[in-house]
Amino acid sequence: MAENKRKTYYITTPIYYPSDKLHIGHAYTTVAADSMARYKRMRGYDVWFLTGADEHGQKIERKAKSVGKTPKEYVDEIVAGFIHLWDKLQISNDDFIRTTEERHQRVVQNIFQKLYDNGDIYKSEYEGWYCTPCETFWTEKQLVDKCCPDCGRGVELLKEESYFFRMSKYQDRLLEHIKNNPDFIQPTSRMNEMISFIERGLEDLCVSRTTFKWGIPVPFDEKHVIYVWIDALTNYISALGYGSGDEKYEKYWPADLHLVGKDIMRFHTIIWPAILMAAGLELPKKVFGHGWLMLAEGKMSKSKGNVVDPLELIDKYGVDAIRYYLVREIPTGADGHYSEEALVERINTDLANDFGNLLSRTTAMINKFNGGLVPIPSEEEAIDSELREFARETVNNVENLMEDFELSNAVGEIWKLVNRTNKYIEETAPWTLARDPEKKSRLETVLYYMAEALRICTVMCTPFMPGLPPKVWKQLGIENNAEVHTWDSLQKWGALPSGARINRGEPLFPRIDLKKIDQQQDKRASKVEKDQKVQRAAHDNVLNLEEEITIEEFSKVDLRVAEVIKAEKVKNADKLLKLEVDLGAEKRTVVAGIAEYYKPEEMVGKKIVLVANLKPAKIRGITSQGMILAASKGDKLGVITLERDIPAGARVK
Ligand code: ME8
Ligand code: MG
Repeated sequence: MAENKRKTYYITTPIYYPSDKLHIGHAYTTVAADSMARYKRMRGYDVWFLTGADEHGQKIERKAKSVGKTPKEYVDEIVAGFIHLWDKLQISNDDFIRTTEERHQRVVQNIFQKLYDNGDIYKSEYEGWYCTPCETFWTEKQLVDKCCPDCGRGVELLKEESYFFRMSKYQDRLLEHIKNNPDFIQPTSRMNEMISFIERGLEDLCVSRTTFKWGIPVPFDEKHVIYVWIDALTNYISALGYGSGDEKYEKYWPADLHLVGKDIMRFHTIIWPAILMAAGLELPKKVFGHGWLMLAEGKMSKSKGNVVDPLELIDKYGVDAIRYYLVREIPTGADGHYSEEALVERINTDLANDFGNLLSRTTAMINKFNGGLVPIPSEEEAIDSELREFARETVNNVENLMEDFELSNAVGEIWKLVNRTNKYIEETAPWTLARDPEKKSRLETVLYYMAEALRICTVMCTPFMPGLPPKVWKQLGIENNAEVHTWDSLQKWGALPSGARINRGEPLFPRIDLKKIDQQQDKRASKVEKDQKVQRAAHDNVLNLEEEITIEEFSKVDLRVAEVIKAEKVKNADKLLKLEVDLGAEKRTVVAGIAEYYKPEEMVGKKIVLVANLKPAKIRGITSQGMILAASKGDKLGVITLERDIPAGARVK
């Protein structure tokens, strides 16, 4: 019975496209959701945490085709990679939904049928634009420079029979809902964006396609596949077994939090709620749109080839460090900036220094000054109660920040306590107390307070870095005292048992040498360069252009039409011809390396192009006053001539 009364908490991530491997941007969303799920479990909630894969649509169909696989073969492979990554990142999801599963397809068809039966879906013709990478329909006037306003890539013109969803009908109800529930769309800046989008007017939404096959068929018209976003959004209820009598739906819907990136807010705060309204279902309680993790050169994307692979980072730095970095890096309502240097800096400063030193000093001093046993504290002095009070406030702040999904700030608060405790150690100077036998009980109190503050910090780290606490518990000798690892144990100062035996271990986060990382990267970069050169030599199908120049730079090269009036071989030089050319206003002598390709008599009378302002050079004793243009590849060479008769001396540009 007690089990049934527990408050529930249903949290979801987007279901990512298995068009490519995931990158650290995707890892951010999932780690953030996982931290929240773990936190809520610690707070006693009955949590359901869902993630998954969005496997249908034109993008996936094309991608699979481009590598010669069926869509199913292709997504199976990529989705196995998702699951492996989540495992490595210690993601504690309760379910993983794939839109190719029968349990999902059934619900999507069921909802589509329901909307059709209610008259909210009708047949018409779609004529407009489509962005396949975003799987989004656009009207002509929404395009920016003829491209997708969201991602900036090219769009395609579609004209096909389609079913439409009467989204316009829900515009007013939706606006009212958003305005009456200021918590529904978070952060507030995103809510305002969505309100103004809706106020510009909602059009009916195209919800089926006929020009490709990879999707869920419209149940009453099998020529059509259901629009991939309608398919995808429905995952949040199909995974709960909606419509199949599964108790999960009754128990967990409506979702407490759909966590998504800001790129897909419109789908989650306009289309999804409108569909739910039309189906007569409750709306999710909150949609939170977080910012992006950016690279110095802009947004991460596969097409730019600048994505960062989280698996590589986990192997190099460990899962806890990566999770910490990700959660810390993206502030609420803003973007974060990824660089490996910043990551290493965080590890060294926050983890190796701040946290690592606190643990190492605490365990070392208890060993040295108290025979390795956590002491019994006695009378509290002002400085001790300040620390205790600071810890209490920190717990309180972290709880409030978590409610607002301010994960980065919550972690920041924990680190304030870590540093406050480090400062306490400096201020109380246990090493000085240890020299005076009369200060023994004072020393014991200080040692206990250090260790207790460390315990509190560690408990609060649990949702973010699940691998960390067990290591700390072991060193503090409390690995078997589960009751002091819980969030509840933070309610009262002093849960750490006196008499626990310290068991010092290796540093949890060894310092990383940035120089070594740079060298590794240089090595990798030069290997890539070498590989590229080898490839070029092998295929010779790479342009390998010179550095870009401006039009001004180009116009410094003075090219002129010249007529060849005389040509002869250069003595003792198989490759050279000596040409006499007419530039109209003057005649010149030019030496050209074309003797293997042209006989002298062939050249006479040709109008060619001369670099007329090239510094003269002596070649085989002859002063060459310019250079003629020719194209060559492999064993072929052709002199550039004029396609029409233009007078000698004319400028070429
Ligand atoms: O949009 N920084 O899938 P998707 C932070 N299948 N987060 C990032 C990010 C970055 N640089 N790049 C990606 C889809 N993300 C649909 C979703 S849901 C019913 C269907 C995260 O593979 C962020 O959460 O393009 C973003 O919203 C999501 O990945 C997009 O993943
Ligand atoms: Mg995307």
